[in-house]
Order: sequence, then structure tokens, then C-alpha cells
Amino acid sequence: MRRKIVAGNWKMNKTATEAAALVADIRKAANDGNGPVEVVICPPFTDLKTAAEALKGSSIGLGAQNMHWKADGAYTGEISAAMLKDLGVKYVIIGHSERRQYFAETDETVNLKTKAAIAAGLVPIVCIGETLDERQGGKMEQVIVTQTKAGLAGVDMATVVLAYEPVWAIGTGLTATPAQAQEVHALIRKTLAEMFGADTAAKVRIQYGGSMKPDNAKELMSCPDIDGGLIGGAALKGDSFAGIVSAGA
Ligand code: PGA
Repeated sequence: MRRKIVAGNWKMNKTATEAAALVADIRKAANDGNGPVEVVICPPFTDLKTAAEALKGSSIGLGAQNMHWKADGAYTGEISAAMLKDLGVKYVIIGHSERRQYFAETDETVNLKTKAAIAAGLVPIVCIGETLDERQGGKMEQVIVTQTKAGLAGVDMATVVLAYEPVWAIGTGLTATPAQAQEVHALIRKTLAEMFGADTAAKVRIQYGGSMKPDNAKELMSCPDIDGGLIGGAALKGDSFAGIVSAGA
């Protein structure tokens, strides 16, 4: 069946020096990623080289938080998939709501980036989710279906991981209830079935993200369509991150 996957999104936290210490903590606390759950950390770009070194000999995977879709060229400030690969990166978060909200990412750029990541052999972790206004305005379903269809149009889903992150639950301490999260995960899987067929839809892993903590992780990940977590705040400490990893076992 679907192997659970827990990924830490460090966001804009930790210098390279601090990253080395946090990786050491996580390795120890999370049994080096040698359990039933697939474990990934996604530090800032500037920490990736240090983190790759610090992860040597571990089963914990390394991911980035963003990339550009072009292979190279005059795109000041951007990072390509090949640059990530060369550092030992295997995963990349795409379309996080903070990128959509503050850096003008759209379903179109999500689609381009997802295809470029796959072409380069990276595993994309594609994020979707509605805002509080959208949910309260009765638009949750429409937003989720649109983001799924537009973001993943024409994508080879074999390696893709999705993350459902209700924007109102990110960093707010508000978590979607397991029932609320499960409802949206099932909707995403149904949309995937329409797009790619039932077999593919049944294989795609869908993480939940948004104030997931060791004490709510087990209940969320016990839902039939929730296959792991994308963790922000609680990923910045070895013990809380490891607590979530073991909740997925
Ligand atoms: P949070 O962030 O766990 O701090 O809510 C999750 C995310 O944005 O990926």
C-alpha cells in the first residue's frame, strides 16, 4: 500500500551552522529514518550542502523548498533542478501556499515546476489548499479541484507526492479536524481518479499539513486518505519532528 511520508519544511529558518546541529538531532531522534515511514527534511537552499553532508549514512531524504522550471539561463536569484540534484537533493516542495501568497506563484507555474522536477528525477511535493475566506465562502471544493486539475495537468504522477495544506491551519495552531482533512483528501483522490484513473489515484500519497504536532499526528494519519504530513513549526526540533514520524508508523 502507500508508504507514509513525513517531510519537514524548515521555511526560512536555520543558518547552515544551525542546520548541521538540527540534522544531528533529527538523525538521533528519528532513528535515522530507518522506520516504516519515509522521512524527508527540506532546509533552505543555503543549508542544503551542509545538510547533505550531515545526512551521510542516514535514510532521511533531503528536499528543497522551491526551484525554477527552466534548466538554466538569465534568471537572477533562481535555482534549477540540476543544481539541487548535484547537491544530493531528492525532493522539492512546489507551490507552497506561502509561495503562492507572497511570491505570486500560480497553478501554471506549479505545473511547469512539477514537470521540470520530474524530468530531472526529483520527487515533487505539490501543495494545494484553500484559504479561510474560500472555505467560509463555500468555495473549498472548487479551489481544491481547480488547483489539482490545473497544477497537475499532463503530469506523470508515478512519483508525485501531494500535500493538502489548508492555509488557515498553517502556523496558526488551528488544525483541520481529522474529519475535515479526510473529506478534502478524499476529494483530491476522487479528482485524481477522474484525471488519471483509479489505479493511479490509489497510489498517490497525499500528506496533510497545517499545525501538525506529535499529539494530533496519529489521529490525522489514521484517516484512510492521509498518507503522512508536511510539517513546519514542529519540524524545527528533533524530538517533535520524530514524534510525528513515529505517529505515522
Ligand atoms: P506548520 O506549517 O506546521 O507550521 O503549520 C506547515 C507548512 O506550511 O508546511
